[in-house]
Amino acid sequence: MKNIVILGSTGSIGTNTLDIVDRFPEEFHVVGLTAGSNDEKLEAQIRKFRPAFAALANEAAAAKLRDRCADLPVKILAGNEGVAEVAQSQDAELVISAIVGGAGLLPTLAAIRAGKQIALANKEPMVMAGALMQAEAKKHHVRIFPIDSEHSAIFQSLEGHRREDVKRIILTASGGPLWGFSREQLQDVSPERALQHPNWKMGSKITIDSATLMNKGLEVIEARWLFDIPETQIEVLVHRESIIHSLVEYTDRSVIAQLGLPDMRTPISYAMRYPERMPLDLPSLDLTEISTLTFFKPDHARFPCLQLGYEALRIGGTMPATMNAANEVAVEAFLQSGIRFLDIPDIIRSTMEAHAPRPIDGLDDALDADHWARDKAESLVHALTR
Ligand SMILES: NC(=O)c1ccc[n+]([C@@H]2O[C@H](COP(=O)([O-])OP(=O)(O)OC[C@H]3O[C@@H](n4cnc5c(N)ncnc54)[C@H](OP(=O)(O)O)[C@@H]3O)[C@@H](O)[C@H]2O)c1
Repeated sequence: MKNIVILGSTGSIGTNTLDIVDRFPEEFHVVGLTAGSNDEKLEAQIRKFRPAFAALANEAAAAKLRDRCADLPVKILAGNEGVAEVAQSQDAELVISAIVGGAGLLPTLAAIRAGKQIALANKEPMVMAGALMQAEAKKHHVRIFPIDSEHSAIFQSLEGHRREDVKRIILTASGGPLWGFSREQLQDVSPERALQHPNWKMGSKITIDSATLMNKGLEVIEARWLFDIPETQIEVLVHRESIIHSLVEYTDRSVIAQLGLPDMRTPISYAMRYPERMPLDLPSLDLTEISTLTFFKPDHARFPCLQLGYEALRIGGTMPATMNAANEVAVEAFLQSGIRFLDIPDIIRSTMEAHAPRPIDGLDDALDADHWARDKAESLVHALTR
């Protein structure tokens, strides 16, 4: 029995994780659950999984949750500090990090510093402060297991091989909901259309990141820190069907890949139960049914966000945190219909151009850059929507 905490339990990764717990109740015990503001969904999860601790980042929602759960033996905490406290719960062995965005940095780091093993879906903290997170993980003897399907595929393709034999890693990208759209079509695309992902059902922020290819830019940076590999050895390949989840090429030109139908429960379960594989009752991959797999080079002209990710990584220091924060602001503004789809890369680029990067010597450097970039990007959004 493994004691787990799920940060972001009401989201897409969080509910998939609880689906695994539900299928294997003898394997996992839920110690803590956290979310942002969805008190209704969190209450239902608390009633079903009976954690000792829960938290909502939104304090008013946490007060409501306390009333709703008055009949239950659960301690309900509030605010970002409350979420971070649950992340460090004494009994927890594994923390599933599945908050969306930079809001996950503090609780995930708190869990690492408390010596909890991490199953990481929340890529943005790795983008903001990857070197710092890995240094803390090393110091506290913590392993960070990737949940992102591409990074899980790389992790699996590296198993049993010598790291010095790796020539390059190749992250696959579905191309997202808008692949093949002309510039004119992209200019007028609605949030509803951009949210229609062909292969994956995910939260709205990552779905828009997938549409802009910023998701792949974030993943290149995540891969750099998860696998300690320079950006010159990380490539991206558009693969529309999302069957090959990523590949590793070795110096003898052997290529090892991991394949499977697109279902996040596979990489989540691998991160939760490593090195064992869980007997998941899911459909098997039938390649005769799929028949054709297609591959393309990324289209940097129409989807410039991937290049921005590489650029931020090359510049280093506080630039990736700046890029990430500007992206979060721009995506939110697009979803609220304030700005157009092609304004997203423009806002990120302008924010990055205005930023004077500094080294990240501690958490405050990453957080300061995050705050600065949010203000800058918000002023750019404001100028566009006035
Ligand atoms: N979905 C996927 O298939 C997938 C695949 C690979 C990687 N990822 C990564 O996994 C992370 C989660 O993605 P998702 O698709 O599961 O997102 P999601 O469905 O939007 O869920 C986000 C979760 O974070 C919580 N949350 C939001 N803001 C918060 C805050 N300020 N403080 C604390 N909790 C907060 C939400 O709570 P409320 O419900 O209360 O808002 C929810 O539980 C992202 O970093 C994403 O890039 C996702």
